[in-house]
Amino acid sequence: MPNNTKKRLMFFNGKFLPEDEIKIPPTAHALHYGTACFEGIRAYYSEKDKNLFVFRLEDHYKRFFYSCKTLFIKLPYSSKKIAELTVELLQKNYSETDIYIRPLAFKSDPAVGNFNLPTLESSLLIYTVPLGRYLNTEKGIKANISSWMRVPDNAIPPRGKIAGAYVNTALAKTESLQNGFDECIMLDRFGHIAEGSAENFFMIKNGVVITPPMYDDILVGITRGTVILVCEKELGLKVVERSIARAEVYSADEVFVVGTGAEVTPVVEIDKHEVGDGKIGPITAKIKELYFKMVHNEVPGYSKFLTKVSSK
Ligand SMILES: Cc1ncc(COP(=O)(O)O)c(C=O)c1O
Repeated sequence: MPNNTKKRLMFFNGKFLPEDEIKIPPTAHALHYGTACFEGIRAYYSEKDKNLFVFRLEDHYKRFFYSCKTLFIKLPYSSKKIAELTVELLQKNYSETDIYIRPLAFKSDPAVGNFNLPTLESSLLIYTVPLGRYLNTEKGIKANISSWMRVPDNAIPPRGKIAGAYVNTALAKTESLQNGFDECIMLDRFGHIAEGSAENFFMIKNGVVITPPMYDDILVGITRGTVILVCEKELGLKVVERSIARAEVYSADEVFVVGTGAEVTPVVEIDKHEVGDGKIGPITAKIKELYFKMVHNEVPGYSKFLTKVSSK
């Protein structure tokens, strides 16, 4: 938790405020119609360096601006300025723990029946919350292929983090949990593997790393990009971005999912089929280890991905 004696602050429409001073109208458009977009960013506390490191802050904000553009939300900040405000917020709420950062831009106008996006006022909220592991990265997880199709690009573009599209996520994840799985893997409209509820999908077959391409209705994940880099540059592995058929995953040697929240999480079972021998695969284990080192500033050459936040 942030310092218990201090009230956690949030950034809301230009001000740093305690949560109980932030008023969002019950009539806000986004609450009724899902007209919001957001990011999920992690900051890691390094015991060695005694400070926080935000991972790929500018890349997250680049995607945030893309999502905003999709919804005709114009923020009164440059991506550099919003990154600076985020660092300031982390300093104000400083605690020696891993933190999740959630920027949210939303249509705040009380506009029943108005679907003309450029005419609606927008608001910006950024808050931070301590967050440990989101999925079981140690033991791995059991997934199912969802009966819910991933929302297609020409319905709600999954390459932006558009709030309304996360109803699709919630339905798929709920189905998985109710059926005793840890996570869902959704197919796209053509029956190809798209992604998990909040993760991109990777499989390994005969030493080659395979992941769905950006046109298969996925969010083009920042962790996905990092993992591709780690595989190619650090582990000398071949990475292929191509469509994956459902049944291919049943004969994969290794499967893992990646995301800011999920980090690198091995998948040990899909639809009751063991992945490989049902244990965490050796390549997955190496990728996971390197990823965790990288976000903690322990891999030379990658400090460019890290924004240092020291306590004031
Ligand atoms: C649907 C979806 N796919 C993939 C990801 C992973 O993206 P990233 O690595 O940028 O966090 C997320 C999480 O943000 C997500 O919500």
